[in-house]
Amino acid sequence: MTGRIFLKLIAGVLGLLLLALLTVDYFTTRVAKQVYIDSLVRQATDKARTLALLLDDIGAVGQPAARAMAAAAGGRLTLVRSDGRVTVDSEADAAQMENHAARPEIRQALAGEPGWAIRRSGTLGIPFLYVAAPCRGGAVRLAVPYAQVETQVAQIRAKILISTALAFVPAILVAALLARWISRHFATIMAHAGELAGGNFRARLAVTGGSEFGQLSRTLNDTAANLQRTVEQLQLEHSELERLERIRKDFVINVSHELRTPLASIQGYTETLLDGALADPQYNMRFLGIIRHNAERLARLTEDLLTLSRVEQKRQKLEFEPHSIGGLIEESMDLVRPIAAKSSIRLETELDAATPEVWCDGEAVSQILSNLLDNAIKYTPAGGSIVAGAYPAGRFVEVFVRDSGAGIPAEDLPRLFERFYRVDKARSRELGGTGLGLSIVKHLVGAHNGTVRVESRVQEGSTFFFTLPAEEAALPKETAVAG
Ligand SMILES: Nc1ncnc2c1ncn2[C@@H]1O[C@H](COP(=O)(O)OP(=O)(O)OP(=O)(O)O)[C@@H](O)[C@H]1O
Ligand SMILES: [Mg+2]
Repeated sequence: MTGRIFLKLIAGVLGLLLLALLTVDYFTTRVAKQVYIDSLVRQATDKARTLALLLDDIGAVGQPAARAMAAAAGGRLTLVRSDGRVTVDSEADAAQMENHAARPEIRQALAGEPGWAIRRSGTLGIPFLYVAAPCRGGAVRLAVPYAQVETQVAQIRAKILISTALAFVPAILVAALLARWISRHFATIMAHAGELAGGNFRARLAVTGGSEFGQLSRTLNDTAANLQRTVEQLQLEHSELERLERIRKDFVINVSHELRTPLASIQGYTETLLDGALADPQYNMRFLGIIRHNAERLARLTEDLLTLSRVEQKRQKLEFEPHSIGGLIEESMDLVRPIAAKSSIRLETELDAATPEVWCDGEAVSQILSNLLDNAIKYTPAGGSIVAGAYPAGRFVEVFVRDSGAGIPAEDLPRLFERFYRVDKARSRELGGTGLGLSIVKHLVGAHNGTVRVESRVQEGSTFFFTLPAEEAALPKETAVAG
């Protein structure tokens, strides 16, 4: 490819130079001929004039003398009388020659002015340059073979052509270097365009200088970068769509699974009761108890799912107002106190005195706290303790719920807030859990512009933290503050 561009450029340059050479040749030939003829006419006229001055009587000059004079003047000498008759000629017999009165140069000389003409000689048959000057009793004519003019002009022309051609050598070298430079850049850019066409948008051209090639390279690089960004964006969106689709499928599978277990249990025990167990006082109350337990479980599950979808889709209307976080913690603690007492679990609060009021939806924060306290109680063995509290953290207040329970293995921590994620599925289900509690917590905290995190060590206990805005300015932008 480089070779073809190079050859085309070089052929173009050579063609141009050849055209220039032909033009130079055409004009120099014309000019050289003109200049040479002018100077020859001048010289010959001067010689003819000198001879005219020297000649007293043209009739007295014999042919030997005419030859000598012609040799000295470097031409052919003809002496013509006023009536046009030739008295002597250095190279022909005058008696044989016709009357010359009509020859243009003679006519002009006889009229008193030097004259000249170029024509084929009637006597010798070859072209001559004739120059004539008036003299006493007639005219003196000198003739030079025209071939001499042609030879001289050819020599001048050859010299000019050679020197012009030599002058073109550096031009050709420069043109060749330029052609190589251009063809290389073209080849690089074409190869690059090929890469882009093939989908490799990571390919980049080395940008050199501010030439048109440099600018083109920069433009192509920018285009490639734009394409690359667009492709990456699309890939990102595509994988995000795939991720969402996976989550949706998982969710459907999880929900159906969670619904199936209690439903199957209700169905099984109902059939057993209908088949006769209803009349059996040993079993009927126990089976009804199981049915109620599963029905409650279903109710809790559907309620959790509804809450989650409301919070996720931001349909839950939150009313932000200043609240005392200590008060909210105490209220939530009071609600779980009887359950904790049943498991001999101590409940304590630990509130930093400098904690400001928080801007929050009171009901939502109670929901968050009761989910965390519910977990802490569920996963803490009898005799353990649970501490809940808060302290200031810049424009936020950080709230925590700490337990001395089972703890969570490090590998489970990153996924803990996902929907349906449970560390020990069997145990959680046994405790009536569905794995939606922390997911609801995360979304409710997010709706307050806050963040959740967890620290935990197996056998030592876990601490869940979440932040709430301490001032109105830290609230989410889109929420309208009630009150
Ligand atoms: N304080 C804790 N100590 C130990 N493990 C915990 C604690 N809190 C949560 N976990 C683990 O995280 C999992 C997810 O908690 P999450 O509250 O989302 O679900 P759940 O309690 O199982 O069910 P529910 O939807 O009824 O709350 C739990 O199943 C449990 O394995
Ligand atoms: Mg829970």
